[in-house]
Amino acid sequence: MRQKILEINGEEVPALGFGTYKLTSRDGEKAIEYALSAGYRHVDTAEFYGNEDVVGNAIKNSGVSRKDIFITTKVWPSNFSKQSFIPSVQGSLKKLKVAYVDLLLLHWPSDENTTHIATELLYKCLSLQYTRLIGVSNFSLDQLIAAQKIAPVFCTQVEYSPYNNHKKLLYYIREENLMLTAYSPLARGEVLKEPLIKRLSEKYNKSASQVVLRWLLQQDNVAAIPKAGSEKHSIENMQIFDFEISAEDMQQIFALARNNS
Ligand SMILES: NC(=O)c1ccc[n+]([C@@H]2O[C@H](COP(=O)([O-])OP(=O)(O)OC[C@H]3O[C@@H](n4cnc5c(N)ncnc54)[C@H](OP(=O)(O)O)[C@@H]3O)[C@@H](O)[C@H]2O)c1
Repeated sequence: MRQKILEINGEEVPALGFGTYKLTSRDGEKAIEYALSAGYRHVDTAEFYGNEDVVGNAIKNSGVSRKDIFITTKVWPSNFSKQSFIPSVQGSLKKLKVAYVDLLLLHWPSDENTTHIATELLYKCLSLQYTRLIGVSNFSLDQLIAAQKIAPVFCTQVEYSPYNNHKKLLYYIREENLMLTAYSPLARGEVLKEPLIKRLSEKYNKSASQVVLRWLLQQDNVAAIPKAGSEKHSIENMQIFDFEISAEDMQQIFALARNNS
């Protein structure tokens, strides 16, 4: 099935990625291998998940060429110091068994001064060619703007399902032509029980998960990284490129948001 490719600042990123939080041990490895065999070409991991080795094994076993997979990993705030940052990234690359990742993120902001230092070190990882692109995660809009003053930020990764209102952030990232990666896009399964999502699922003859993921990927500059341990979910989540949600139904889903941006 054809996929949506985001074209941002001359980069091409598969809009649908595969989240790997909690995918560990051989079972996790098999789920990631399966996702790659099914056609996912964008994989999200983090030092904190303790599974970079599992992701690395799955990539190796999959037989898919390294250059065809967009790999994201993240540095945890406990490694934001000058002593720890670079060794932690080198450790991630070693576990992933790759020479570089495509996108390296600061996983969470720390205090202002520490985050400033970490952003400079993140920038250094670009020149060291440990990563092709850099970004931040769980940063407020103000924190994102501050990071951009230090380094060429490509992406911000935030929790984004129909329950989150990111109106201001979305406006900003489109103005700046950045990528917004939606994590926990299914609200960890919670949003699939919403009556509206169930109604739309019947209307479009698609699963609740497909409706939610399609809603996200119909938005400009947005990527989504659902996690699926089960093969059934993994495949189902890919089959979202053969239908379109109407503008009116898009707005109804936006109205499920619980917080203000
Ligand atoms: N940057 C950050 O701070 C941060 C924080 C959280 C997450 N993340 C990233 O975002 C990824 C996704 O977020 P998440 O894992 O928190 O939650 P999620 O993707 O919103 O939800 C995952 C849950 O939904 C279920 N699911 C998946 N597809 C489904 C389908 N088609 N039908 C029904 N249920 C389905 C999964 O079940 P099965 O596993 O049983 O298939 C799992 O229980 C993570 O894996 C991680 O890579 C980043």
